Amino acid sequence: MQNLGILISGRGSNMESILKAIKKQKIPIKPSIVISNKANAKGLKIADRLGVKISVIDSKDYKNKRTEYDKKVIHELEKNGVTVKNGLVCLAGFMRIISPYFIKKYKNRILNIHPALLPAYPGLNAQKQAIQNGAKFSGCTVHFVDEGVDSGPIIVQSVVKVTNNDTEKTLSEKILAKEHKIYPEAVNLFARKKIRLSGRRVKILD
Ligand code: GAR
Repeated sequence: MQNLGILISGRGSNMESILKAIKKQKIPIKPSIVISNKANAKGLKIADRLGVKISVIDSKDYKNKRTEYDKKVIHELEKNGVTVKNGLVCLAGFMRIISPYFIKKYKNRILNIHPALLPAYPGLNAQKQAIQNGAKFSGCTVHFVDEGVDSGPIIVQSVVKVTNNDTEKTLSEKILAKEHKIYPEAVNLFARKKIRLSGRRVKILD
């Protein structure tokens, strides 16, 4: 079985949805470690309660030392079996840009979730961007992480309607509910080896 490492910085609701789905939906992957770059991340308590090993690698002294920081994270991942041969790394509200070193080393083994229908509205405040641009639909995307910002191959997306009365807050809530469905779905596809990459296109096997 492959080993899963999840990187968080805060609330950890996507992490929670993945961990719960692994148990409930019998996703064949072992949740091996949850790593936070912030000691006070709420998600740490949730992971601990769900019986998953947690680790804090504080990033406050590593502002412009991305590779140096990532090497510490990689060391922790490897120690827990999340290797380049047998690991999956999920970024779940991990508020750091990861280094090209990390991305190359775990090529096509790092996933992220974004609260918009990429390639629309990458970067920060995606839900606000959708509202401000008058989008009629938005949603969320699980994608492989490449060296750009939210630019890697798309694995799963889910759509929500933007209504006249939606605010950034209500749209974020609607999108988050969909995030909690599609992130576990993408982990399941990866764990069952149903994802094929062909250039920038992801094909899902039956
Ligand atoms: C989620 O909405 C996720 O899509 C977003 O941060 C939130 C984390 O919430 N990520 C990004 O915007 C990445 N570009 P969580 O900690 O409750 O999972």
